[in-house]
Amino acid sequence: MITIPQPQTGIIPLYERPAWKALQQHYAKVQNAHLRQMFAEDPQRAEHFAFEAVGLYFDYSKNRITDETVRLLLELANQSGLRARIDAMFSGEKINVTEKRAVLHVALRATKDESIMVEGKNVVPEVHAVLDQMTGFANQVRSGQWRGHTGKRVRNVINIGIGGSDLGPVMAYEALKYYSQRDMTFRFVSNVDGTDFAEATRDLSADETLFIVSSKTFTTLETMTNARTARKWALRALGDEKAVARHFVAVSTNTAEVKKFGIDPANMFQFWDWVGGRYSMDSAIGLSTMIAIGPDQFRAMLAGFHAMDEHFRTAAFDRNLPVLMGLLAVWYNNFFGSQTIAVLPYEQYLKRFPAYLQQLTMESNGKRVTLDGTRVEYQTGPIFWGEPGTNGQHSFYQLIHQGTKLTPCDFVGFFQTLNSLGDHHDLLMSNVFAQAEALAFGKTPEEVREEGTPDWLVPHRTFEGNHPSNVILAERLTPETLGKLVALYEHSVFTQGTIWQIDSFDQWGVELGKVLAQRIIPELEATEEPSLKHDSSTNALIRRYRNLKGGAARMKKNG
Ligand code: F6P
Repeated sequence: MITIPQPQTGIIPLYERPAWKALQQHYAKVQNAHLRQMFAEDPQRAEHFAFEAVGLYFDYSKNRITDETVRLLLELANQSGLRARIDAMFSGEKINVTEKRAVLHVALRATKDESIMVEGKNVVPEVHAVLDQMTGFANQVRSGQWRGHTGKRVRNVINIGIGGSDLGPVMAYEALKYYSQRDMTFRFVSNVDGTDFAEATRDLSADETLFIVSSKTFTTLETMTNARTARKWALRALGDEKAVARHFVAVSTNTAEVKKFGIDPANMFQFWDWVGGRYSMDSAIGLSTMIAIGPDQFRAMLAGFHAMDEHFRTAAFDRNLPVLMGLLAVWYNNFFGSQTIAVLPYEQYLKRFPAYLQQLTMESNGKRVTLDGTRVEYQTGPIFWGEPGTNGQHSFYQLIHQGTKLTPCDFVGFFQTLNSLGDHHDLLMSNVFAQAEALAFGKTPEEVREEGTPDWLVPHRTFEGNHPSNVILAERLTPETLGKLVALYEHSVFTQGTIWQIDSFDQWGVELGKVLAQRIIPELEATEEPSLKHDSSTNALIRRYRNLKGGAARMKKNG
């Protein structure tokens, strides 16, 4: 007999929740209220809608909200069963209902003395055992004790993985580069496009290179293709199968496949099916991060995650950073009809943070059915995007300021820079404050006219303002702060998913393309013209590719 997973009990559909209905009425009243007016009416607004928690200062005063908005959003959280869902996640319940899995990335950063049970077993000791194994290995590599096949020390580490097995490691490496061992090179190969591998290895010596093959399933096409290419590349230079043991380690949940690939299970670092790929950067998937920054800094990052977890789990919702951020995202997504959220870190080291958040947020909340399979009648996950400041200001901010779309923005900045150079940091931070100010308050036609602008130019130079933003500030970018920031978004995503009653932890939407690609591969590679049974467009594209794919080789031959 098939057991159909039982999702949240006792939660009525979103549109029927009283707080939702009240929010609709409230929205009708406040939708045109301008931030200019709200700030003018309440001189204390900045203090009112800002607070500090776990070392992050969160200013959400430049949002199109009133006390009543916040009160109703908090009511919505309560009526959506958020408290019970948080407790269910932290206690190891199988809240990923479609995959029948617990969702326990929070266990990855639990302290040794905590106990988190999955099917009657405390998983925290296993987490710490893997952390200790990673620590031992990272120390050996960093100190040069771990030698390659020819006896040389490892100078280069290449993480091969994709999605959650890549974006977390590469984002964390870039974010924490300041703390990294600078006499080592770290690279990340993800794309099945051979260029990725070729460029990552072209200037490296195989005898000094360690590959970390990171894949939860150890079956992902891109990763396994790159891993096989890496093995050939290494063996071509090192000439001995035995070299694999010194130059390849694996991070996976799948011991059988790791063995099949030829990696010694002694060089395998485990994680568990209750860690989602996009929630795994603090598991063994973070091995490259730990080698780069060292075990102590890695544990500091985990402490940051844990601090945010505890805040999310215990703080009252009206002073709960992830809850408020999540509710604000719902407010714009479902009431103002915003389609996207821009994440704008004013910190060069966070240049991959928006890309990382794209998978975290969009693979989590890009769903169109509720936990029990009912088609939703409302918008779910917004599109996340962004670039580090100030670069974005000179490209896409124009649209945010004067375009027709309402794009809520998250600004992330730091009081102190890691690279103090003249007045660079003051210039950088002045732009955070200026952009948030300009977005909120704009510039009226009267103000533009007063500057002597001719009438015909006034509309072009007017900024309507009323564009909402959050400003998140921390002391400086440290491993701990990074952990807090990532956990903040993880839990904000969870809060949003809870309101929408969707499964934020599965990702069925990535399957169809994978299956179709598997069918097309032999059609591209067949020596005889294959009989194609796709639609006419796909058939024509395949035929054209088959006819022209030898072009480069022909050009080379002819040239
Ligand atoms: O793209 C889908 C996905 O399953 C992601 O969720 C995951 O992070 C990625 O593929 C990589 O999967 P794996 O770690 O199993 O190779």
